[in-house]
Amino acid sequence: QIHVDNKLKAIQSQLNRGEEVNGGLLTYLLVSKELTLEEIYANMTEMLLAGVDTTSFTLSWATYLLAKHPEVQRRVYEEIVNKLEKDQVPVAHDVPKLPLIRAVLKETLRLYPVLPGNGRVTQKDLIVGGYLIPKGTQLALCHYTTSYSEENFSMANEFRPERWLRKDNLDRVDNFGSIPFGYGIRSCIGKRIAELEIHLALIQLLQNFEIKISPKTEPVHAKTHGLLTPGNSINVRFSDRK
Ligand code: HEM
Repeated sequence: QIHVDNKLKAIQSQLNRGEEVNGGLLTYLLVSKELTLEEIYANMTEMLLAGVDTTSFTLSWATYLLAKHPEVQRRVYEEIVNKLEKDQVPVAHDVPKLPLIRAVLKETLRLYPVLPGNGRVTQKDLIVGGYLIPKGTQLALCHYTTSYSEENFSMANEFRPERWLRKDNLDRVDNFGSIPFGYGIRSCIGKRIAELEIHLALIQLLQNFEIKISPKTEPVHAKTHGLLTPGNSINVRFSDRK
């Protein structure tokens, strides 16, 4: 709210001085007056929280996990080298050629689901696991916990992207123990763009750098801060492959 209000003041003084106002999305929303101020506050929060922090934390965790697991990183890198041309800038249709990159993201989100919990209000009476849950009950689902349950994932504490690889076209590796983007009609609307962004960023990082631990790399634990965030700095070393 503070930042939106400051921007509004800046725009207003530009207009008062008779200057032309140029800027990005926020400026556009403020100048066009198509949304109310309340709606603009809400949209900006969504943009930053849902649209930015989610992908940046996940990408950070992925670099951390790859640095800590050089063997996994080597296999992912080999797949990139074998499936893409040298120095090829990847685009969306290259991603299906690289199942390991997709598996790295799924496994990263299993271990560090940026939204560690989710919720629903039941629309009808349900029986789940022998319990009657009446219509209108608010349910909280902690998929952080189910992601670490041995019942759902063997060697659940380990970073094993291969667990997500299909053995053949009929193999289904979906597992409701890990639903980092939620499920159903209210699932994450940004899922596809988030996945694409992270896949393409990871491919390009690995094409150019080997991601290594450094003397500054310390164990990083997750902490819940609304979202699940890294509890301290993730320090890794990007070693230029050239
Ligand atoms: C790694 C990245 C992301 C993760 C793990 C994630 C996860 C989630 C989850 C768990 C939900 C709740 C789904 C449910 O209740 O079933 C959600 C909702 C939502 N996400 Fe994401 N998200 C990510 C990235 C993004 C991005 C990039 C955007 C926007 C471009 C976005 C926009 C939204 C919006 C608008 C909703 C609310 C949808 C609704 O209530 O109908 N998310 N997200």
